[in-house]
Amino acid sequence: MGYRVVIVGATGNVGHEMLNILAERQFPVKDIAVLASRRSLGTEVSFGDKTLKTEDLDTFDFAGWDMALFAIGSEATEKYAPRAAKAGCIVIDNSSLYRYDPDVPLVVPEVNPEAVEDYAKKNIIANPNCSTAQMVVALKPLHDRARIKRVVVSTYQSVSGAGKDGVDELWDQTKSIYNPVDNKPAEKFTKQIAFNVIPHIDSFMEDGQTKEEWKMVVETKKIIDPSIKVTATCVRVPVFVGHSEAINIEFEDHLDEDEARDILREAPGLMVIDKREDGGYVTPVECVGDFATFISRIRQDSTIENGLNLWCVSDNLRKGAALNAVQIAETLGNRVLKKG
Ligand SMILES: NC(=O)c1ccc[n+]([C@@H]2O[C@H](COP(=O)([O-])OP(=O)(O)OC[C@H]3O[C@@H](n4cnc5c(N)ncnc54)[C@H](OP(=O)(O)O)[C@@H]3O)[C@@H](O)[C@H]2O)c1
Repeated sequence: MGYRVVIVGATGNVGHEMLNILAERQFPVKDIAVLASRRSLGTEVSFGDKTLKTEDLDTFDFAGWDMALFAIGSEATEKYAPRAAKAGCIVIDNSSLYRYDPDVPLVVPEVNPEAVEDYAKKNIIANPNCSTAQMVVALKPLHDRARIKRVVVSTYQSVSGAGKDGVDELWDQTKSIYNPVDNKPAEKFTKQIAFNVIPHIDSFMEDGQTKEEWKMVVETKKIIDPSIKVTATCVRVPVFVGHSEAINIEFEDHLDEDEARDILREAPGLMVIDKREDGGYVTPVECVGDFATFISRIRQDSTIENGLNLWCVSDNLRKGAALNAVQIAETLGNRVLKKG
């Protein structure tokens, strides 16, 4: 019993976390293969107490493997995911390539676990954007109680959301500011990220919003309810890991802040830390390595009839990517494959 699992992009930030989480959650792994590009051939990665050597994705045969957790960019995914899916290996993809495809379910297991059962049209299941994943976990239980009409969200997104290069750029640039002879100009980001904030993630669209902002709108509709209106401003901040969001929610029905706090306390995947005192809230450094999405600063918005504000923080490499992918694998196993 157990699953034959492939990790694609095992040398990256998300791939690394997927291996940690599979081991931490004791996912029933019968056999595991770790893949990356040819440049990383033979690189060692850890899985529990084992050390594995990466293989070349380009020459790997997916036949006979149950599932492949992909964490490479969209371009490479476009080339390799269909090959895996065609070989009968179910792809759980972290890139944005398939998220908006009507034949591919977009799944956050706390919110729409039943959607995994629609995997078979393409043999692919998509993982949402990191900012969407943590937000929908918080919105769903509130929507079930009081029907959400509109969400206004501002994000404070860490540099690890931009991969290994993003983390290196913040680290090197921060050091270079104290040692100006070693100047590190912006490369991965569009402006200096050290000691700065940048209101721009992903490319600009014609209407002035960025693709990252658009993703939060479209993915929330696909995962929870197409009637929910979302408007987002996505900002990159000099934090290594952990995305934060200030979320304003307008409901159809009245929802008292105390009842909202109780609902969120009971909801799966959430941890409410909300004391109205110094430090009685969660910040990104405290969420790193955790499974939960943390909710703080729950309060009524008195400027509209049925409004609430809250603060939502989560480890973007975990709930925003690797954890959600492993939870999808668990849900797929429990509901469909049943080999665990
Ligand atoms: N970071 C986040 O918060 C987050 C959240 C949601 C989704 N995602 C998505 O997850 C994916 C991975 O992100 P990341 O942050 O882990 O990036 P990363 O740290 O830059 O790692 C990228 C990984 O992809 C591999 N790769 C790149 N091109 C490849 C190719 N042509 N063939 C084979 N392997 C290739 C790299 O292998 P080498 O080491 O051999 O180059 C590496 O293992 C992206 O699609 C990203 O959009 C990330």
